[in-house]
Amino acid sequence: MAVYVNKDNAEEMAAFIEKIDIHGPVPADETKRQYYYMAKVRKHVEALTEELGRKPGCCVVTFGCQMNARDSEKLTGILQLVGYDIVETEQTDFVIYNTCTVRDNANQRVYGRLGELKRYKRSNPQMKIALCGCMMQEPTVIEKLQKSYRFVNLIFGTHNIFRFPELLNAMFESNGDMIIDIWRDTDQIVEDLPVERKYPFKSGINIMFGCNNFCTYCIVPYVRGRERSRKPEDIIAEIKALVADGVVEIMLLGQNVNSYGKNLEQPITFAQLLQQVEQIEGLERIRFMTSHPKDLSDELIEVMANSQKICRHLHLPLQSGSTRILKVMNRVYTKESYLELAAKIRERIPDIALSTDIIVGFPGETYEDVLETIDVIEKVQFENAFTFIYSQRTGTPAAAMTNQVPEAEVKAHFDLVLQKVQEVSRSRIGLYEGQTVEILVEEKNGQDESLMTGRMSNNTLVHFPGTEDLIGKFVQVRLTKCPGFYYIGEQIG
Ligand code: 5AD
Ligand code: SF4
Repeated sequence: MAVYVNKDNAEEMAAFIEKIDIHGPVPADETKRQYYYMAKVRKHVEALTEELGRKPGCCVVTFGCQMNARDSEKLTGILQLVGYDIVETEQTDFVIYNTCTVRDNANQRVYGRLGELKRYKRSNPQMKIALCGCMMQEPTVIEKLQKSYRFVNLIFGTHNIFRFPELLNAMFESNGDMIIDIWRDTDQIVEDLPVERKYPFKSGINIMFGCNNFCTYCIVPYVRGRERSRKPEDIIAEIKALVADGVVEIMLLGQNVNSYGKNLEQPITFAQLLQQVEQIEGLERIRFMTSHPKDLSDELIEVMANSQKICRHLHLPLQSGSTRILKVMNRVYTKESYLELAAKIRERIPDIALSTDIIVGFPGETYEDVLETIDVIEKVQFENAFTFIYSQRTGTPAAAMTNQVPEAEVKAHFDLVLQKVQEVSRSRIGLYEGQTVEILVEEKNGQDESLMTGRMSNNTLVHFPGTEDLIGKFVQVRLTKCPGFYYIGEQIG
């Protein structure tokens, strides 16, 4: 279970840390060990605060998926507790990039931004820079950083993120040399470390880590390791603590949530976990991500259909509509079985929104394969689809395939798929125009100050005139207009 750091308990947590004897032996228990190091780092940060005449600032930048966003909340919880001031700007005393490597453009962005950080560091020589996340699990990346980015202070990976306090301490006590700590894998899940949430009213929760599927294009199994599920009682206890702390919506996170629980001592299915979560009083909405079509059970569809709390949204990555390509991708389903599954879900849960991921340009993909993908988009009528250009990831089987598709061809195919995705999702999203629905208000609209933004159960965003006190509340809105992939609405009552 995680320990939530918020404005109400910050002092209590700090007092707890202060009591830890940092001159005693390092505790053997992993959680206690990390609290011990938090206490040590707190002293270093206190000294730095004295020297600077202010609290040092720290900026955590997240690249990639919801898993990384959740990891960043964990890093932030620790940083807050040891005395850093969490800031948005990268021109500060400590910057951490939590990286993604699922596609090469994510890596390139990190290198580009590191160039900028180097300039900041020149004007503030005692600035510290740390890198973590999926990209750090790639040996070629570490080689490049060691060679050309010597100004980075600390590098760690996905498997030892729970050791962050210990690594921070090593950074403070080092003579300025680059510290690198990368583990190849781990079977450890360390509970009870502090977390600071981005949103007070909603939260992600890891239910499992890693992936065993080895889709041939994907680097995730190499950088996130083998599948490990958290125990249901730890998950339930964490959600209860979140609800007690004001959370009404949760997102259960895993690379393939449908295989949750299979490797536990006492196996449990994902659908059974959902039923337990549903019982938690005060929790209003349940989301989850991501589902692999090959493991999506009838039991899960039933549980969703009968649930009052599970949101009417399912993310079901298709990747390709061509059975031939799916086979080479090692996806273990066919075009036909995917279509059947989608139809079954739509029939049993008619108000569900289906979203998907599509890759264009996988090795050997032809125009005919792309037409198959387009056919599935038309047949399933996805409310939303994330379309990606295939990216060659070193070490994956697909990267070694000799029939890579020329860039111009991929671009042309990508445009075709995108056009179809947009056409379909525009028509699907607009179906609720004129109706009154419940939304959870999330934030002030980024573009128009007079509007608030909320989310429907089916994940569609609604912008409506409102005030900030509505954030975190459920309100009824009439959906007046659908100008694109979202609604403009008005509050009712
Ligand atoms: N190239 C392009 N897209 C990829 N994805 C995963 N690996 C690659 C790759 N090598 C996409 C898949 C996955 C999503 C998270 O990222 O569509 O579902
Ligand atoms: Fe990658 Fe496939 Fe695992 Fe998803 S299921 S993380 S695409 S290997």
